[in-house]
Amino acid sequence: MWKGRFQTDTSNLLQKYGESISYDWRLYAYDIEGSIAHAAALQDAGILTKTEERAIARGLREIRAEIESGEFRFKTSLEDIHMNIERALTEKIGPAGAKLHTARSRNDQVALDVRLYCRAESEAILHRLSALQNALLTLAVNHPDAVLPGYTHLQRGQPVLFGHHMLAYIEMLERDKDRIKDGYKRINVMPLGSGALAGSTIKLNRALVAEKLKFPAITQNSMDAVSDRDFIAELLFTISMVGVHLSRLSEDVILWASAEFGFIELSDAHTTGSSLMPQKKNPDIAELTRGKTGRLIGNLVSLLTTIKGLPMTYNRDLQEDKEPLFDSIDQIKLALEIFAEMMGAAKVREEKTLAATSDPFLLATDIADYLVLHKVPFRDAHEIVGKLTAFSLQEKRDFPELTLDEFRQFSDAFEEDVFKVLDVKTALRARKAIGAPSPSNVSKQITRWQKRLDASNTL
Ligand code: ARG
Repeated sequence: MWKGRFQTDTSNLLQKYGESISYDWRLYAYDIEGSIAHAAALQDAGILTKTEERAIARGLREIRAEIESGEFRFKTSLEDIHMNIERALTEKIGPAGAKLHTARSRNDQVALDVRLYCRAESEAILHRLSALQNALLTLAVNHPDAVLPGYTHLQRGQPVLFGHHMLAYIEMLERDKDRIKDGYKRINVMPLGSGALAGSTIKLNRALVAEKLKFPAITQNSMDAVSDRDFIAELLFTISMVGVHLSRLSEDVILWASAEFGFIELSDAHTTGSSLMPQKKNPDIAELTRGKTGRLIGNLVSLLTTIKGLPMTYNRDLQEDKEPLFDSIDQIKLALEIFAEMMGAAKVREEKTLAATSDPFLLATDIADYLVLHKVPFRDAHEIVGKLTAFSLQEKRDFPELTLDEFRQFSDAFEEDVFKVLDVKTALRARKAIGAPSPSNVSKQITRWQKRLDASNTL
């Protein structure tokens, strides 16, 4: 493509080292869509005749069909998807094909292609996030009365409804969806017409191109437009954050599926056995996801590191943006799909979660609250219940087995009704403030999400 200036061919090693066709081939549909729009702008500017424009569009559509049917032969010697398609077009339709690259550079072309790609994939990720939220919501709906201990420091803290725990993840995934939607605004800006870095002396109607490609905005600085990869970094961050959320859910799933917890049972379809230990049923999906999250974060760091030292404007380093991007998108889509399937098929063992929640110490804070309602300052109440807990442990008798007299050894604010506090259902019902896990709050949240999930699916 640059034969004019050069006297010898590119070294074979450089071809191998510098090619991107082995992975950027997947931008083909966006490259073709962009070129068809660019041809319309060239026609509008008087560079192409109507007939030439039509020949270009027809040729490009044929190339798309050839790529999709597997007939197209990608050449490493042509470096990337842009040159592979352009060469094939020229071979197909002759001189009109050779005019397509007027007032365009691969620098604005690749920026456009990647933006179109990120646009489509943002939508795909958004839908998968909603599908996982739906699977978690269904678990909450199917186990309205299930209770389990809420933990801090992985120590039993206070009782919660199982649904409340699921809704926590739904909230996290909703923030991820908000990040996708927000980042989409910065992806959705049309860079074509920026040329190599300084536009072109041929005046293109960029608004026409933007309209054809359904972009609501046009980049306003040609130098920024060809070197901006912020939108990719943002998407990689969002994907990393989704990964971190899935990794945390993975950790819960791994713990819950252990014999020690036994809170859930994963289906055979979503677990693997051991080649050595016949009894094993391993939560590999969750472990893989926890592991792959490192890779997602690595991809984000990789891109930021690539960008950080670049002078204006396009530098070939930027070709390194695509592999981390493609990898993160492929992995997060799979992770979200498989998580929706796995959580949808998981069985909650309510008898186990209930047994764990029957630990009376989970209600220690409720006893302190009881004292507060009987006019004891909270700090004093905390100490009283701490001493009561030590006594109960020493006596090897749980709170409900202590007598009122024994309670009153620690504070005379205790009355007969303290025993009413020592009930998980009462404890949950009392947690009524916004965001707390009373059964009526949780059921309202479930209804809210049932209404909201479908509506929050559009970009
Ligand atoms: N393959 C290149 C990339 O992915 C396309 C742009 C190349 N531009 C250039 N001036 N060599 O970034």
